Order: sequence, then C-alpha cells, then structure tokens
Amino acid sequence: MATKDNNKRDLPEILPEHIGFIMDGNGRWAKQRHMPRSFGHAEGGKTYEKIVRYCRDIGIKYISFYAFSTENWKRSSEEISALMVLFKQYLAKVQNYYKEEVRMVFIGDRSAFAPELVELMNKVENDTKDFDKMTMIVALNYGGRDEIRNAAKKIAASVQKGELSIDDITEQTVADNLYTKGIPDVDLLIRPSGELRTSNFLIWQCAYAELYFSDVLWPDFLPEELDKALWAYAGRQRRFGGV
Ligand code: FPP
Repeated sequence: MATKDNNKRDLPEILPEHIGFIMDGNGRWAKQRHMPRSFGHAEGGKTYEKIVRYCRDIGIKYISFYAFSTENWKRSSEEISALMVLFKQYLAKVQNYYKEEVRMVFIGDRSAFAPELVELMNKVENDTKDFDKMTMIVALNYGGRDEIRNAAKKIAASVQKGELSIDDITEQTVADNLYTKGIPDVDLLIRPSGELRTSNFLIWQCAYAELYFSDVLWPDFLPEELDKALWAYAGRQRRFGGV
C-alpha cells in the first residue's frame, strides 16, 4: 500500500498501490457540446495529464490507462487518426515531464502502429526506464484476452523447446509472460461514464481489484473525482478470497 504523502488535501491513510483507469465517455462529453468526438479525446487527454500528476503527487506507485483497445480499430478512420495524432503529440512533448521522474511503460501490440509512433514509444520507455517516482502504464492496441493468448504462446514455445516442463507452469509463470511482468496487480480499477463493465482491460491483473464506477464522463474526471474513489477504496474490506 502507498501511504499518504500530501498535506494539501484530505486523503485516506490507505491508498492503492496500483490504480487502473478506463478513460471512457470522451465521445459523449463532446456530443453534449455539439463538438466532434476528437474534441472529447483532446479534452480527455488533458484530464489524463492532470490525473497523472495528481497520482504522482499523492504517492501512488503505479497507474494504468486504457488509451486504445484492440477493438477500437472498429471506429471511423477519422476518429482513429485523431487519436493517433493525440498519442504522437503527447509522446513528442513528454520529455518536458522527465523532471517528474515517472517511468513510462506501453503495453499492447505495437506492430499495428506507424513506425514513427513505435519509435517514440520505444524512446520514451527507454529514456524513463530508471525513473522511480511512479510507473505509468499506457495500454495501446491492448486487449486482455490477446495478452493472455500471447502469454500462452510464449509458455508453449518454452515447453516445446524443453526449457520448461508443463508441471512447472504456475500462476507466476503466466504473470511473467504478460506485458505487465514485474508490475503489481491492480488494486483499484476506475471506470467513469456510467458503464458497468471492465471491457477486456487488464483482466488477469484485475482479478482482485476493487471496482469503482462513476457517472462522470472522463474529461470531467478531475482529481476531486479521484478523491471520491480513493475514499471509497479505503472503506472496502479486501479479503482476497479469505474471510
Ligand atoms: C473512450 O471514450 C476513450 C478512448 C477510446 C480514447 C482514450 C484516449 C484518450 C483520453 C487520449 C489521451 C491518452 C494519451 C495516452 C495521450 P469513448 O470515445 O468510447 O467515449 P463514449 O463512450 O462517450 O463514446
């Protein structure tokens, strides 16, 4: 558990070590304002930056964001292009935040992205690999089932090569073959925008996560809203299957 490291706001003593965010509701937020969906994503990007900074400042150690799922390719080419521009713009300016010492990790299948974007992802990951203030995980072209399928393939290949015996496959073996190797499980999963599902996000890692749903749309999910989730989390009793 992370501990309270902030005197400015009233926060619970017990904070989650790892928070996952499903950034949902950008499209509806834009529609309410008679604006294109891309406007909602741009505003969602600003909220994402505010939440990152806030989590870092209050001492959260790991945060994960669902930025683009394996299913999001079904959207219009216009919307996909707008999202790609947003990701690229963010990665191109992220050096400005290196002083905040946040390690960035990208999870998902990068092969579908433009080489330019992949290069930026690799560079940012490499530049920030030794930062230890907080680890931020951004899921791009990510799907939980796809991740587990990949892990199964890697494990099967090790068995086939004779490096691993079937009886030695443990839960840890699976965890070590996920994109999130070495990253602790999610403690608190937050989904704004009124949808009550987890949509294939970190399905292995969220096995025991506390779920928090809010009707607020992602662009409006500012630190005050996160505080509410943190208080709700602090009031939960986590038993991990025990009594
Ligand atoms: C889901 O809302 C949101 C997305 C598919 C994109 C999320 C991306 C960002 C917030 C951009 C910022 C991220 C980075 C890494 C810079 P939706 O479009 O499904 O909303 P709706 O349900 O209201 O239609």
